[in-house]
Amino acid sequence: MEKRGKVLVLHGPNLNLLGERETGIYGTKGLGEINQLMQKEGEQYGLELDFFQSNYEGALVEAIQQAKGKYDVIIINPAAYTHTSIALRDAILAVNIPTIEVHLSNIYKREEFRHKSFISGVAIGQISGFGVLSYLLAVRAAAEIVKNRS
Ligand code: DQA
Repeated sequence: MEKRGKVLVLHGPNLNLLGERETGIYGTKGLGEINQLMQKEGEQYGLELDFFQSNYEGALVEAIQQAKGKYDVIIINPAAYTHTSIALRDAILAVNIPTIEVHLSNIYKREEFRHKSFISGVAIGQISGFGVLSYLLAVRAAAEIVKNRS
């Protein structure tokens, strides 16, 4: 039987408040609903998805460290840590798992402090500005990465 690709989906700080937080920017869907949509999308490509959200940088670093040997791809919306976290960047480099960076909003269209991503330089690619579709496009990209590796 063909081995199913495994994807770890990481959500950073304040994304637990999606659906009620700045809905004009981030939309009205909650994180649970977004995860379900990703799960469904993943099933179409034979991917197995696990989800983790934290408001703590260290918890996200540990989740990345523990992904080594268990996951084929990481999809991460680092949220505000995108713009501050060398620790998340280093963790991604350390585990060497292909990583896709996701943002609901187009970070380059917003305040200047959001234009800098510490993650993009170590990610395979970044998807930004398509709302929930950003996440679904990331699942599609993950499927392609898994396909090309096996
Ligand atoms: C975000 C963009 C970040 O600048 C912000 O801090 C977030 C969400 C997005 O998905 O658009 O919390 O990552």
